[in-house]
Amino acid sequence: MFENYNVPKELKPSDPRFGCGPSLIPVEFLKSLAATGTELLGTSHRKPAVKNLVKEVREGLMEYFNLPEDYSVVLGNGGATFLFDSIGLGMVEKKSVHYTCGEFSSKWFKAHNKIPWIEAEEVSVDFGGGINPENRSDADMICCTLNETSTGVIVHEFPEVDENTILAVDATSGGGQVACDLSKVDLFFFGPQKVFASEGGLWIAIMSPKARKRALQLAEDKSRYIPDIMSWKTAIENSDKNQTYNTPAIATFFFLNEQIKRMNKAGYQGVIDEGKRRAELLYGWAEEKDYLSPYIKEEKFRSTCVATIDVDDKVDASALVNRLLAEGSVYNIDAYRKLGRNQFRIAMFYNISYEDLEKLTKILSDAIESELK
Ligand SMILES: Cc1ncc(COP(=O)(O)O)c(C=O)c1O
Repeated sequence: MFENYNVPKELKPSDPRFGCGPSLIPVEFLKSLAATGTELLGTSHRKPAVKNLVKEVREGLMEYFNLPEDYSVVLGNGGATFLFDSIGLGMVEKKSVHYTCGEFSSKWFKAHNKIPWIEAEEVSVDFGGGINPENRSDADMICCTLNETSTGVIVHEFPEVDENTILAVDATSGGGQVACDLSKVDLFFFGPQKVFASEGGLWIAIMSPKARKRALQLAEDKSRYIPDIMSWKTAIENSDKNQTYNTPAIATFFFLNEQIKRMNKAGYQGVIDEGKRRAELLYGWAEEKDYLSPYIKEEKFRSTCVATIDVDDKVDASALVNRLLAEGSVYNIDAYRKLGRNQFRIAMFYNISYEDLEKLTKILSDAIESELK
């Protein structure tokens, strides 16, 4: 199936990158990085050029998310998965409750569940369903995933938590595009390789004063062995000085900063609205075609960053995905590997243009309808 399919010339997208992990980095950013010549790459992260870049990133995020002044933007190396462990090790007092609906939320739960000095509880729904996190008086951390990248589910309602409870949100693939009032969240973390159009390997944690206090207090608990690389105290102290504990990839900061500037021009609400517009396009198309259907049945849980669209069994979705990849027009729209569904999973991140997404729907329809004829 689809072996000989070629994308019609008029439907070629301006950029073939529609994958969710990681997302496209605009080619203009690569050119601007090259133009920095000897100024940044290969210079020390303890000297002004890089420290000013990190400062711009931290201030840019404060502006973008309209953060209260007493919030901290903390960063370090290791990506979001690294934080699954270090949050459990150094930020949970006794118990975390995890609202899970897919691979990533459940992976975070599993990381906490291995830690001997805390208890972790999972509240889950079957893959394909959405979940509303709730406050729990027996827990001191509530964990949820803003955009579950494996299934394409968003959290659209956040609970008010108790004075001593941390509301922690993994915002890796939704942060910046899925609506969330960060002044109600204590720990909002992400890797910058999705909406923020940078490389992987860095983590960013936006912390409320409550979260910062908890991290610094638990750092004093010497009964917990926490490796230095995972120390929240060290990460906070370095970030306050616009540095990371160990050597970062400077290009990652550069791309991130370019994207924050671009998103600040549009504003948080502007980017959220663009996500909704893209989502209407993709789910509307999936509902209209009888060989497609949105995987997430309850509309309010459908992601505005990652669309998951089931394909009728008569059509081999992965054969088409592979053909488009080989042909060079569309990359990486396969279903999350462990989900094992006959599905397209398409990123709708801010940098993926509406016009290209429109072309993508036309390509997929053209290919499928010519096979089904
Ligand atoms: C929701 C979510 N959390 C965590 C991760 C892991 O991020 P990283 O690769 O930066 O460790 C991902 C990666 O795709 C993700 O989508």
